Amino acid sequence: MTMDNAVLQVVPAIRMMLDGRGLKTVKVSDRTPPDDMDDDTPDLKTIKQMIDMFKAQHGEDARCSLRIAGVGTLTVNDAPEVGRMRGKIVIVTGAAQGFGEGIARCLAAEGANIVVADLNEEAGRQTVERLNEMVKGNRAIFVRTDVADPASLENLVRETVMEFGGVDLFVSNAGVLRAGGLDAMTPEAFDFVTRINYNAYFYCVRAVAPVMKLQNEWSGENYGDIVQINSKSGLRGSKANFAYAGGKFGGLGLTQSFALELAPFRIKVNSVCPGNFYEGPLWSDPDNGLFVQYLAAGKVPGAKTVEDVRRYYMSQVPMGKGTAPEDVTKAIMYLVEQTCETGQAIPVTGGQVMIN
Ligand SMILES: NC(=O)c1ccc[n+]([C@@H]2O[C@H](COP(=O)([O-])OP(=O)(O)OC[C@H]3O[C@@H](n4cnc5c(N)ncnc54)[C@H](O)[C@@H]3O)[C@@H](O)[C@H]2O)c1
Repeated sequence: MTMDNAVLQVVPAIRMMLDGRGLKTVKVSDRTPPDDMDDDTPDLKTIKQMIDMFKAQHGEDARCSLRIAGVGTLTVNDAPEVGRMRGKIVIVTGAAQGFGEGIARCLAAEGANIVVADLNEEAGRQTVERLNEMVKGNRAIFVRTDVADPASLENLVRETVMEFGGVDLFVSNAGVLRAGGLDAMTPEAFDFVTRINYNAYFYCVRAVAPVMKLQNEWSGENYGDIVQINSKSGLRGSKANFAYAGGKFGGLGLTQSFALELAPFRIKVNSVCPGNFYEGPLWSDPDNGLFVQYLAAGKVPGAKTVEDVRRYYMSQVPMGKGTAPEDVTKAIMYLVEQTCETGQAIPVTGGQVMIN
């Protein structure tokens, strides 16, 4: 077993052995040098016996750090006292800005440990700094990640396990939009959108599912959660935006199929389908936001200003508001707290899209 494999195959199980509810995190440091050939990692049953003996002698809540051959030193930390997400280990892709940043912030405020996974290193690190100023007892880290690259996702999951000891919730949020009708859309743009919005969702689940399976094998009461941030365009076609809508519709097929495959392992897989986040950069960026683009493209008949375009879109929403990250996060927390909900697509659209 390589050292990296040992971390992935041992540490998530140990975290559950320490507390079956996942209320501890485990940080791996001081890794055994690779040339230390005698340092064979013990099997999980042996490690469990050691931990049970330790607990019997010192009590369930005893503080400890463990030295596991072939893995390194494991420092055990307790979860924060309060919060709906206390102690959860959460990866949010595309969390440098927009919905992902807001979701990460709201989950951190509820006691989650956050891994900001994004291509944009500068904005991602700034997000992490802000989160760490805000939290108490939980932490955030940044891992530079390209969700369109399976190797980069494997690195993300490994770094997360090294830092926190497992993964409880994976939010597949990173997404891109290239609008255009049949006359405008190039095959290259279509492939780009599809690779990030559709293929990458598969790559994410492929990378994280083994860790969640291992955790649940060692705890009778733990659940894992995968939540894909889909879109109202995954529920209803979108004019001159078929590359985006097609990938999002496909994402719901993946969600339902992953849910069926992973249910026996107590891993729930769901999608949240937000309406438009009008205050976020995708829409409101003053140079390149969709309001500016749609004004320039004449997409809204009669609109003369960005404000006209904004009013037009707002008027499509029965509740008269855009979807905020806070609204999306409430749906995510509902899914995490549920033990009887998988393979679903939850619209959070202010009533703009209703399911049949
Ligand atoms: N903004 C909306 O109105 C809206 C509405 C419904 C659904 N959504 C969905 O919400 C999600 C987030 O959208 P947003 O509007 O916040 O987008 P955004 O453009 O504001 O942010 C997207 C983030 O993803 C990152 N990213 C892009 N490609 C990546 C890659 N290959 N690997 C890793 N990170 C990458 C970007 O760096 C950025 O930080 C998307 O899945 C989108 O489809 C957005």
